[in-house]
Amino acid sequence: MLTIALPKGRIAEETLDKFEKAFGEKFIFEKRKLILEKSGFRFLNVRNQDVPTYVMHGAADLGVVGLDVLEEKEYDLIKLLDLQLGRCKVAFGLRAGEELDFSKSKITVATKHEKIAKRYFEEKAMAVEIIKLYGSIELAPLVNLSDCIVDIVETGETMKQNGLEVGPTIMESSAHLIANKNSYYAKKDKILELRERIKAVL
Ligand code: PRP
Repeated sequence: MLTIALPKGRIAEETLDKFEKAFGEKFIFEKRKLILEKSGFRFLNVRNQDVPTYVMHGAADLGVVGLDVLEEKEYDLIKLLDLQLGRCKVAFGLRAGEELDFSKSKITVATKHEKIAKRYFEEKAMAVEIIKLYGSIELAPLVNLSDCIVDIVETGETMKQNGLEVGPTIMESSAHLIANKNSYYAKKDKILELRERIKAVL
């Protein structure tokens, strides 16, 4: 049995679709159920940011999670495969017409992605104040809570609708299949076979 943590929503559905193509079976969560067990797989329906936690603790052997979440959590996990789903980037959002002012003594950045943002400024040896938010990040520069934001951009529509422009990209992201290290060594044949089958239907 392989236990696989999936991030609630569209990515879970698209991943299960790949499993259907790879194994010739339908995998559908019953309404409100958080576990789906079928044909040697046990899928868990968890929150996006919680996927690495389940895999790290070995409660799931495998997981599907965005590269941005992995970078933010800095967990010691094995990256098995880029599923090429949920493509997006982590980028700056700036008030329309403004640029990142690197001459400022300190820039304030509102974001959910604290570590990713911090690393960007560390590499440039620049002072930054990170303001941690949990959502509606685009609002922060509009009410002068911060100079700019660092957030997920898919189409750019959310920033545009809120008077922001997409600035420099910090990283590209997409959903990746990850593995717990112990699981990987204990169930290597099974996991590598799964990886090959999924890879073949991407
Ligand atoms: C992300 C992000 C933006 C939006 C960007 O939120 O925080 O609000 O998507 O997409 P766009 O460029 O296509 O407009 P998400 O939907 O992931 O939900 P979240 O608030 O839980 O992060």
